[in-house]
Amino acid sequence: MKPGRRKFMAGMLASVAGRNAAGALTRNHDTSEEVHALREIAFGKGIHVGAAVSSDQLRLDPSFRHEIVKECSLVVPEWQAKWTTLRPLPGQFDFSGFDALIKQSGALGLAVRGHPLVWHAAMPAWATNEILTGDARSLLEGHIATTTKRYRGKVIAWDVVNEAIRPEDGIAYGFRDTPWYRALGAGYVAAAFRHAAEIDPDARLVYNDYGVEYDDRRADGILDMVKRLRDDGVPIHAIGLQSHLWATRKQLHPRTVKRFCRAIKREGLDILITELDVRETDFLGDIESRDGIVSAVAEIYLDAILSECIPKEITFWGFSDKYSWLSKPMYNPENPAGHLNRGLPLDYSYSRKPLWHTVARKLREI
Ligand code: XIL
Repeated sequence: MKPGRRKFMAGMLASVAGRNAAGALTRNHDTSEEVHALREIAFGKGIHVGAAVSSDQLRLDPSFRHEIVKECSLVVPEWQAKWTTLRPLPGQFDFSGFDALIKQSGALGLAVRGHPLVWHAAMPAWATNEILTGDARSLLEGHIATTTKRYRGKVIAWDVVNEAIRPEDGIAYGFRDTPWYRALGAGYVAAAFRHAAEIDPDARLVYNDYGVEYDDRRADGILDMVKRLRDDGVPIHAIGLQSHLWATRKQLHPRTVKRFCRAIKREGLDILITELDVRETDFLGDIESRDGIVSAVAEIYLDAILSECIPKEITFWGFSDKYSWLSKPMYNPENPAGHLNRGLPLDYSYSRKPLWHTVARKLREI
């Protein structure tokens, strides 16, 4: 391990130890935190606390539904608004899943951010083929028109474009090498935002991406794109930081996060934390240490953002470890207990973890 990382890790573990000792004293006995849920603490501060969910989770798991309604004011479709779900076959739409989630959310008093209109992943083969060999522009605009029209007034925001920047692909302006880029060039991003704004002028239009907190080139590539979009008068309102953090394998760049948030604010855009979780399956520790480092990493990250701005959302990618994309059976032989990733605010049985208490404390400090 590089010296710098060793120092970083030592500091991290020390803060974890410190917090565990302190946390053990206060974590389960701070009745003020026990009384309030995250959405209540956030209320009045202009922040939605959210979670990525599916309509089946809410329908089939009443305990989970209870926790989401208690802790969150917003939900995001984890996969029910992706092309693989919405567009199984050419010329066909299947809105049944997202419709169900919209209906449930309305009944439960939860706002919804749609996710995503344009992405390179979760695409059916026929759509990728049409983009590369057919009429990509019509497919892009047709999808946006049909989808945003259907949910106009039912979602407060859309992730219009997801993950368009990847400088390591070696393309001009750091764009990601995707079928959309190959077919339409860098202009597909502006076209998507303009079309979405035309159909739903009231929705918050978001550019969503990951890696700002670990990769300065990624951060700069996104900032460069945002500046060009703003200079061209493209209707974009917010930047979504997915915020998929790592417990140990990567070292956070808090200064880059602060610089990025300052630059986004200068462009007049909002910041959303859109998919917060912590991947810790590679961390060899007992449950308390794993939960402690998850909390400590998130605290460093949230401090960096909150020192520069108040995000309009703090949304988790899931809310309980029971439903985390990181808990897919990606067995890690070094950490046999690690395949159940513990990177969300509630554990498998919906008990609040140190991460929940850290987020509650950060929200109270705003
Ligand atoms: C993930 C889902 O959670 C998984 O279930 C699916 O297999 C892959 O996509 N960034 C995003 C999300 O914007 O849409 C991704 O969601 C996680 C990474």
